[in-house]
Amino acid sequence: MLTQYHLLAIILTLSLFGLVLSLYRKGQKKPAVLLHQLMRVSFLFVLATGILLVPMMPFSLMRGAKLLLGIISMGMMEIFLMHLNKGDLTKFTTVSLIVVISLTILIGLFLPLGIYLRFW
Ligand code: HEM
Repeated sequence: MLTQYHLLAIILTLSLFGLVLSLYRKGQKKPAVLLHQLMRVSFLFVLATGILLVPMMPFSLMRGAKLLLGIISMGMMEIFLMHLNKGDLTKFTTVSLIVVISLTILIGLFLPLGIYLRFW
């Protein structure tokens, strides 16, 4: 149940991130700033549901990595948008963001709670 809320919060956050990104790109600052603030609120839901998921299973190295990557992903989204706004976005920032978010989602989906992917 809680994992569904975690996933819902992640989908909301990533959708808002996409919207904010396209609005900043189009130069529509006002709606972009508003949705950016909303995205920060949705970060809190991701964080809260993520933290609540921790005691549901015994702690492991992969789960520890998942927590760290989750927090880093949100930080990277903020860093990315900040550089985009300043106009000094580098390929390194973009690639790191994509790598970190993909790793977080993949590790999350290989861990046993909720939707559980397994290839063996
Ligand atoms: C944008 C950031 C994040 C993304 C993209 C993300 C992604 C995911 C995904 C896809 C799952 C699998 C859910 C399922 O199978 O139903 C998951 C599970 C989980 N996430 Fe996150 N997450 C993020 C942030 C966080 C944060 C900040 C925390 C904790 C502080 C956290 C803790 C957890 C835990 C404990 C699980 C359950 C793992 C298990 O099955 O043992 N996540 N996450």
